[in-house]
Amino acid sequence: MSKTFIAPSILSANFADMGAEIRRMQDAGADWIHCDVMDGIFVPNITFGPKMIKDIRKVTDLVLDVHLMITEPIRYIPQFADAGADYITIQVESTDKVEETLLAIKERGCKCGAVISPDTPVEVLRKYLPLCDMALVMSVHPGFGGQKFIENSVAKLEELKKLRDEINPNCIIEIDGGITEDNVQKVRAAGAEAIVAGSAIFGSKDPAKTIANMKL
Ligand code: DX5
Ligand code: ZN
Repeated sequence: MSKTFIAPSILSANFADMGAEIRRMQDAGADWIHCDVMDGIFVPNITFGPKMIKDIRKVTDLVLDVHLMITEPIRYIPQFADAGADYITIQVESTDKVEETLLAIKERGCKCGAVISPDTPVEVLRKYLPLCDMALVMSVHPGFGGQKFIENSVAKLEELKKLRDEINPNCIIEIDGGITEDNVQKVRAAGAEAIVAGSAIFGSKDPAKTIANMKL
């Protein structure tokens, strides 16, 4: 299998001790840090904005994978890019300007990605794939950590892998939601290369072991 990137989601971190939480993940062998930005409108939860990314950027050199779950994300691309995001991914359901937003991300020097929620078909990604550095399949409904993995996400990953191999082999496939040590192998076998996990890693007694097991 190709290289696997493990991206702990800070949604499950202690927000009052974020610097220590990031270092804890870095020491445990995390490849990326996944940052979930929520606006309380696109999803029924609110997290943080560009200031958090800017402050995290000061404490780590790890790749910052910023997942925007906000309405009309184009409004905030400059702020997240300037804050030091490496990847900025946007939900295709959050705007009519998906293509324009992906281009705005690239123009700002970041890598861009398109995200589909569980009810959005993979086929929707076809027209965006040529532009994308990453395509993300949500395997829970966006908004909260600690939800149960939705099983048909495996078939969606397989479909996406075929499409990706055909259209843009350089695009990374990411999976996000309900990933554990028990189901990580099957999502990797189905094509996932970047693995987001919040509760499974932050909630682990031994995050280094959990991350290592997810890469086996
Ligand atoms: C959910 C977020 C996820 C979340 C994953 O909307 O996009 O990144 O933190 O958390 P777990 O791994 O606990 O499902
Ligand atoms: Zn996420």
